[in-house]
Amino acid sequence: MGHFPEGFLWGGAVAANQCEGGWREGGKGPSVEDHLKGGDVHTPRQYNRVIDPDAYYPSHESVDFYHRYADDIKLFGEMGMKIFRTSINWSRLYPVGDEPEPNPEGVAFYRSLFQCCRDNGIEPLVTISHYEIPFGLAEKYDGFVSRKTIDFYLNLCRTIFTEYRGLVKYWLTFNEINITQHGGLAAFIGAGVMPEGDVAYMDFGIKPTKEELSRSYTALHNQFLASALAVKLAHEIDPDYMVGCMVAGGPSLYPYTCAPADVLATQQKLQQDTWFVGDVQVRGYYPGYMLRFFAENGIDVHMEEGDEAILREGTVDMYTYSYYMTNCVSTDPEVAKSQGNMAMGVPNPYLKMSDWGWAIDPDGLRWSLNEVWDRYQIPIMVVENGFGAIDERAEDGKFHDDYRIAYFREHIKAMGEAIADGVNLIAYTTWGCIDIVSAGTGEMKKRYGYIYVDKDNEGNGDLHREPKDSYYWYQKVIATNGEDLA
Ligand code: BG6
Repeated sequence: MGHFPEGFLWGGAVAANQCEGGWREGGKGPSVEDHLKGGDVHTPRQYNRVIDPDAYYPSHESVDFYHRYADDIKLFGEMGMKIFRTSINWSRLYPVGDEPEPNPEGVAFYRSLFQCCRDNGIEPLVTISHYEIPFGLAEKYDGFVSRKTIDFYLNLCRTIFTEYRGLVKYWLTFNEINITQHGGLAAFIGAGVMPEGDVAYMDFGIKPTKEELSRSYTALHNQFLASALAVKLAHEIDPDYMVGCMVAGGPSLYPYTCAPADVLATQQKLQQDTWFVGDVQVRGYYPGYMLRFFAENGIDVHMEEGDEAILREGTVDMYTYSYYMTNCVSTDPEVAKSQGNMAMGVPNPYLKMSDWGWAIDPDGLRWSLNEVWDRYQIPIMVVENGFGAIDERAEDGKFHDDYRIAYFREHIKAMGEAIADGVNLIAYTTWGCIDIVSAGTGEMKKRYGYIYVDKDNEGNGDLHREPKDSYYWYQKVIATNGEDLA
């Protein structure tokens, strides 16, 4: 295995809506995520336009990071974390989204949080928008379908780039920007594209209509513009800022068979679902395969004169992505589909799966890192990777999460191999370093953390924190810069 470079940024990641809670505190307005009820692996999450006061919405309390962040970050610091990824809950700063000035309490909150990271020797890595667009922007403007939302996003960026200068260096413009293109509730949480009707379900099996896809791809186009303008603005405010794109899933698909039709279908799926957003944000222009796809499928993406120049001038400084699993692509309609949460595809018979149907594939991580590096040649961060599992307290009263350690060990080895292959990987932030609400199902029992949080799926529990075995294991990994994985 290759050695991790000196100064490699080991860390963990969360998103504000999945950990903070305090959904109406400090002047915060509702975000899109605040309108989603909890579900489970069999029950899709439900969206309500009007929040039902008697129903359970996981983001409203989450794991109360809003009040407990100082203790949590202290635990991260004691673990040795070098970098901590979290997001700005946009509606904490702009409660409706279109206000001319930010809410001072929200601004103060993130200043304290980032200062606390620094005090504990941790570099913050900040996602500007992680499924947290203000619900007001969705209702009033149809989210990023409207170009006005680009301006509101840039107001947010101007505020945070100015206010947190000297505290934050690394920024990500949109979490998993490629989810917007899938339409439905994915486009709602990704870009505030308003669902039809008062109730809708997170069902990734529903095929969007041509009209819906035109709206989603237009919203995505406006997010590309917003991201490009944000990169430019960031560099104007501080030339040392490093701004990245953030892409879902990594290019992690295999042809189910070596039939040329399967190989070609895999290439096309990779292009459309993964490379497309990276190509626009890193290279600065729409790739030909996507223009063909729009033309052949009657998808009308609203673009204006001058947009091309904006995209070209606002390319990102680094490529970051989430990597959990891989799937296969088959052209045979009989081959069964697995529906493991937000990622759909044909299961790979060579790989084991988690309880949520996510295939465990460390080699796929090495493969994807090489692919990304070959394609873009800019610094890379793996900003999400982890194992969602049910953790049971053992007889000795502790959490022995050896399955999680095994998952991380193999994925870290794979990253070491990719570094030896020549990939410029600079950071690794494992997902849900403390237990948080699952984005896909809204559950607490799908846990990713090194630190256990006492809360169940129904919201019961006293929220106290306890390190699991993986906490001490990762502490050793960081202390030895990835040399000791035993
Ligand atoms: C990514 C998201 O899709 O996967 C996270 O960026 C999410 O917000 C993570 O939590 C894991 O998915 P889930 O559904 O297990 O929480």
